[in-house]
Amino acid sequence: MSSDMVKLIDRLEQEHAAVREALGALGALAEAGDETGLRSALPGRAAVLGAGLDDHSLAEDATLFPAIADGVGPDLVGVFAAEHAEILALRDELYRGDGGDIAACLGLCALLESHMDREELMLFPSVRDLLDEQS
Ligand SMILES: [Fe+2]
Ligand SMILES: [Fe+2]
Repeated sequence: MSSDMVKLIDRLEQEHAAVREALGALGALAEAGDETGLRSALPGRAAVLGAGLDDHSLAEDATLFPAIADGVGPDLVGVFAAEHAEILALRDELYRGDGGDIAACLGLCALLESHMDREELMLFPSVRDLLDEQS
């Protein structure tokens, strides 16, 4: 699994950078309380935060996590998988646009940034260590 897994983690990290860029723009508008600006900024980020985030979460849930669950622990992987459901629900709420956009955006930014931080600082390095041990 190793070279495919290295490529997958590289890809996931690159996707995190695109997600962070989108969240940074939307989060700044939400923090400023600019609901009109936030609504008009959403379509331009829909590719990254819509289908892009769906694909990203699916790659982690369906490919990465099953491959590493034994090595890093199924409970840890379970926490990240559960957060995906929460993140996608907040994203859907934000894009549905039926009120509460500022709160949905701030909630999405906080959870998704923390989630990606923990993947990058803890989960992905653990996987790289596992792969090093196996090679
Ligand atoms: Fe994730
Ligand atoms: Fe991720």
